[in-house]
Amino acid sequence: MKRKVIAGSDHGGYALKAALVARLREDGWDVEDVGVETERSVDYPTYAFEVAKRIVADPNALGLLICGTGLGMSVAANKVPGIRATVCSEPYSSTMARRHNDANVLCMGGRVVGPELGWSTLSAFLETEFEGGRHQRRLDLIAAAECGSLP
Ligand code: RB5
Repeated sequence: MKRKVIAGSDHGGYALKAALVARLREDGWDVEDVGVETERSVDYPTYAFEVAKRIVADPNALGLLICGTGLGMSVAANKVPGIRATVCSEPYSSTMARRHNDANVLCMGGRVVGPELGWSTLSAFLETEFEGGRHQRRLDLIAAAECGSLP
């Protein structure tokens, strides 16, 4: 089943987000787009936190955050407990981000990847499931650290 996608960007990621959201909808995905809708300069943490909060509230959904590099979005989104946001610029990394890290937010750079590479990176992310097993143990260590328990 296709999962819901919650997308957001700043001005640096707007063009790529718009292209990918349109393509996702054409492909039958249910997409919630929290903005932005123009290239006017905004602060990326606002959109990172908005998407992150909605992903935590809806664990079946997957997030897409795009800024100029993907980096600021990932730093901000990962401040929200329960978020595992990874920056990926090609499909191998985005596949592994799901398979091994159970990443729930994909971050990309609108000034790094073009629409085709962005689409293949996003498609791989959305179509790959978490493997569990030994990887769950590692995620449990990260979740414990989030609650203040560092080994
Ligand atoms: C905005 O110019 C840029 O700093 C932002 O889009 C992002 O790349 C930050 O990490």
